[in-house]
Parts: sequence; structure tokens; C-alpha cells
Amino acid sequence: TEIFLPERRNSKGWDLRHRPTLAAIDEARGAFERHRWDAGPLLAVDAPPGETETVKNPARPRDEVGTVTWASPDTVAAAADAAKPWDASAEERSKVLNGIADLYEANYGELFAILHREAGKSLQDAVAEIREAVDFLRYYGARTEGEPAVGVFACISPWNFPLAIFTGQIAAALAAGNGVLSKPAEQTPILAWRAAQLMHEAGVPKTVLQLLPGAGEVGAALTSNPAVGGVAFTGSTETAQIIHKSMAENLAPGAPLIAETGGLNAMIVDSTALPEQAVAAIIESAFQSAGQRCSALRCLYVQEDIAESFTEMLTGAMEAMRIGRPWDPSTDVGPVIDKDAKAEIDAYIAEAEETGRVLKTCDTPDAGHFVAPTLIKVSGIEDLEREIFGPVLHIATFAADEIDKVIDAINGKGYGLTFGLQTRIDDRVQHVSDRIEVGNIYVNRNQIGAIVGSQPFGGEGLSGTGPKAGGPDYVERFRKHPAEASSG
Ligand code: NAD
Ligand code: ALA
Repeated sequence: TEIFLPERRNSKGWDLRHRPTLAAIDEARGAFERHRWDAGPLLAVDAPPGETETVKNPARPRDEVGTVTWASPDTVAAAADAAKPWDASAEERSKVLNGIADLYEANYGELFAILHREAGKSLQDAVAEIREAVDFLRYYGARTEGEPAVGVFACISPWNFPLAIFTGQIAAALAAGNGVLSKPAEQTPILAWRAAQLMHEAGVPKTVLQLLPGAGEVGAALTSNPAVGGVAFTGSTETAQIIHKSMAENLAPGAPLIAETGGLNAMIVDSTALPEQAVAAIIESAFQSAGQRCSALRCLYVQEDIAESFTEMLTGAMEAMRIGRPWDPSTDVGPVIDKDAKAEIDAYIAEAEETGRVLKTCDTPDAGHFVAPTLIKVSGIEDLEREIFGPVLHIATFAADEIDKVIDAINGKGYGLTFGLQTRIDDRVQHVSDRIEVGNIYVNRNQIGAIVGSQPFGGEGLSGTGPKAGGPDYVERFRKHPAEASSG
């Protein structure tokens, strides 16, 4: 058979240093500044509607972004009955996926507006988000040829990449020819609804992609419905464990689970590191997206010989960060997602303050769900009991002969997502890379923002099942391979 391999390039995105580009974004986004969206399930069948709720802006809670009508477990049952795999040719699927990417780029003003107003994404985060979503569509859209689809996939996504991860899961499932029942995060239903509308507009049939906005109970109804052949999940490690159990009890044996979960990510800065480069990388890794990235740096180890001067540089750089409204181009750190997230992170910081461990904290605006970027002293990663999903960085020191001890402590936590190393010793790069157990290692740069196609992203251990998103093996997991097909 003839193999169809379309040409593919990553999105060129938007250069925020280019004034006319910034002005164009501002105008396009500004048209949606007061718009209200009314989101809800997108179904191939009639089903009774659930409750309707108002969606609010995390940076300005008086700003009502719109409403969402939720799906219920009954809606899930009706949608699952109507769901079908995509019987279009590989070439047609590729064309439609690329068409969705084009529609995302054409509708950038509206997507920027929803990313700011519903998800609290800063301008630079919003650029990265749309680019990554477009890249996933084009990357998986170039991989539509292959073994048959599994059938119907449940795609369950988190709020912290409400467009990129939502789109990436669906694009991979569709590329392989699956039908999709998508359950976006309850915090970001409007973005998911608008993106799913664009997918339908580009030519994905309604029986092939249905949207089921709702909370965990809607996800639970999906992962226990025998019409579901496989699950793509990104979110917390705890939820992944619940889904794994539900699938084992309710779905066909061997139904694939692709789970991308949390991390307790570390960086080591030794005494040979370039301090300016390391500080810039740390600021981005720990505080960009208000620390709401699975890849974010949580525990920084600095060699004790340079610790004092280095910490001074780092706290100085924290001082210079601007915390504010996401749509302001000078903003470095926006709000966290909602008031519950703010309350949980603030309580964690308050406890560290009570025990005298806070080395630096920043000022925040009064209104909105802002959390102060904070640096907390710890003796090592052992002190971190769980992933704090916000702008909180922990710092520890180590002696020159303790590198292996530090690596053992990091590996000992059982997560394995990202790791950063700042050093100018070549042998050390090799030594540490050989020993550290993580999915993505970054040397002498930041440790966030993996690029689709060139930096496949995903963890091991408690951080995920693999295969890596944005890499060549990912779509394969959405197909039925001959060994599985013969075993039923
Ligand atoms: P979460 O686990 O609370 O929710 C994720 C999704 O699962 C949501 O859509 C939620 O409604 C759904 N859900 C909740 N309970 C469910 C259940 N019982 N059955 C089925 N679905 C259920 O996570 P979150 O707070 O939305 O996202 C933040 C987490 O995601 C962090 O831990 C972060 O590290 C992780 N994350 C990982 C990656 C990665 O690539 N490894 C990327 C982004 C986020
Ligand atoms: N892919 C995202 C990152 O690398 C999670 O930061």
C-alpha cells in the first residue's frame, strides 16, 4: 500500500517582542473582552441537560465569562451508546486534523480571550498553549496510517493545559481512527467547548467526537462504561489510580490506559554553573504559569559553596517578577485557577511561615485568586510530602561530595517527570543523566515547555505510564496491534 506522509511544521506562534504582533493580539482578544459564552455538552444524541453554572474569571471574579451546562452520568450513557469509531481514510483524517489546527490559528483572538479569562493564562502562556495544541494536531495528523483503531476512547483532561492537553489527547485518538468521548476539566469547560466546536467545524463527525463537561463523577461514568475501549488521562496521580481500578473492574481486559500525572521535580545547581543562566531557568521553571505545570520545578538543590550568593540572586529575581492580570503584557505570573487552589496553597505557605522556613515571598494584587511566589527552605526533597500545584519553590543545599545522595533522594520519591541540571562539568552531565530516573532531563536551561516532535514529554513511576506525548510512539497506543487483536 502507498504510505501517505504529509509535510509537517511546528506552529510559528506569535512573537511577543514584536510590537505590531502584540497590538494585533490585543485587538483580536479585545473583541472578546466582554463576550459571554454558553457552553454545554456536544452530543450525537438527545439527552436531558444537567445543571447550569456561571464560569468566573480567576483574576477578576466579578467578570462572568459565561455559563456551562454540565453533563450527568445519564448523558454519558446516552453518548456512549451513540459513539462510533471514525471510518474516514487515513488521508481524510489527516486533512481534518490539519484543518482544526488552521481553525485554531484563525480564531486566535477568541482563544487568547478564553485562555486569559477562564484559565488565567498570561500572554506568554497563552501563546505556548495555542502553539502546542496546533503542534499536536499537525504532529499526530502526520501519523494517521497504521494498525486499526481500538474503538472509542475516553479522553479526560486537566485545567492547567485546557487547550493543549485537551487537544493532544483527542488528536492522537482521532489520528488512529478512534471515536472520542471527551471530559474536559470542570474548571475550564468553555475553552473545551469552543475547541470541540472548531473540531466539528473542521469535519470531525458528531458521532466521532462528543463533549461531556462535568466533574469527576462524569469521568467516573466514562471509565466504567464498557463501550469505552481505552482511556487517555492527564491529571493527578491519585485520580489516575482510581481510573486504573475502575477500568480493571469494568472495561474489557487489556483496555489501554495512557496516564500522564504529577511530579516532584528537582534541579541541581553545582558550583560551576553560570549563575545568571541558572537563575533565569529557575524563575521560569518554578513560577511561569503560576507554577501550575506538572513539569514545574519544586525542589532546587544548590551546592553549599555558592548557596549564599546564589540565593541572594534568586530572591532578587523573584522581587523583580510582576504578578498581575494575565492579559497585561508585563505580567510574569497570573492567578491560580480558583479560590480552592488559592486557599490550599496559601495554607501551605502560612504553615511554612509559622515554622520560619520562608526565605522570600512576593506582593500580589488584592482582588483575584493570586498566590505570592514563595521560596521555602527544606533539608531535601524528603521534606516534600506532596505536589503543591502553585508558585512555591523549595530550596536545599548539598556538599560537593553529595551529588549521588541527592540523586538517590530524588529517585526515592517515586515520581519521575522532569529534572534540571546546571553545571559546566561534562562528565557530571553524563553521570547524573545515567542515574536520575525521570522522563525529561534538561541541562543548562529551564525544565518546562517541551516542544512537540523534538522533545517528547512524559514521565515514569508515579508520573505516568508513557508513551511520551508529542513523540513517535504516542499514537501507537491508540491502535490495536496484531498481538492484542488476536488475543481479542
Ligand atoms: P485531577 O486529577 O483533579 O483532574 C483531572 C481530570 O480528571 C479532570 O477532568 C477531573 O474532572 C477528572 N476526574 C476527577 N476524578 C475522576 C474520577 N474519579 N474518574 C475519572 N475522572 C476524574 O487533576 P487537575 O487538578 O485537573 O490537574 C492537575 C494535575 O495534573 C497535577 O497533578 C499535574 O501534575 C497533573 N498534570 C500532569 C501532566 C503530565 O503531562 N504529566 C500535565 C498536566 C497536568
Ligand atoms: N508539556 C508541558 C511542559 O513541558 C507540561 O511543561
